[in-house]
Amino acid sequence: MDYKIVPFNFEVCEQAATLHASAFDCAWSKNEFEVLLTVNPGVFGFKAVSSEEQLCGFILLQYIIDDAEILTLGVSKNCRQQGIGKELIKTTIKKLFIKGAKRLLLEVSEYNKEALLLYKSLNFKAYGRRKNYYLLNDKKQADALLLEIKLNN
Ligand SMILES: CC(C)(COP(=O)(O)OP(=O)(O)OC[C@H]1O[C@@H](n2cnc3c(N)ncnc32)[C@H](O)[C@@H]1OP(=O)(O)O)[C@@H](O)C(=O)NCCC(=O)NCCS
Repeated sequence: MDYKIVPFNFEVCEQAATLHASAFDCAWSKNEFEVLLTVNPGVFGFKAVSSEEQLCGFILLQYIIDDAEILTLGVSKNCRQQGIGKELIKTTIKKLFIKGAKRLLLEVSEYNKEALLLYKSLNFKAYGRRKNYYLLNDKKQADALLLEIKLNN
């Protein structure tokens, strides 16, 4: 499919909230996206938009001094497995090189198979684990794996 990756902006917050609700158990509201973009100057991101101007995916990060952390990343269900998640992260990494970041960090559930495949394909490495960090729907818990990629700036 045809899509372009451009900076995440205020205007997309409503669509981002809808996509987020379809991708995560704990949905972020439009207002939460707006506040995140407004109050923290270190927060930035990218969105993937189809030729029909539909939001296909987005990534939001927080960048402080040497480290950037992925706050959220989602691709709409009908746009998955077409390389969009990977392109969003590659675009982010290019931007972080320019900003002078040293590491890109994230946390992911040990059971999130799709996300783990994505991060593996980009060569992220595990550097830690938070036991029972996520509470799942069935009241079970899942560990958070802490992953990083060094940017060699
Ligand atoms: C995780 C997620 C962002 C992946 O986005 P995507 O656009 O489908 O991923 P891509 O198409 O870029 O795939 C990247 C790699 O992962 C692999 N992959 C992704 N999903 C896969 C699946 N369901 N089955 C097999 N492989 C998969 C792809 O084959 C690809 O590997 P390759 O480049 O070596 O061929 C998407 O599934 C999603 O939004 N999930 C819900 C939200 C979420 O879990 N976010 C991450 C939180 S940490």
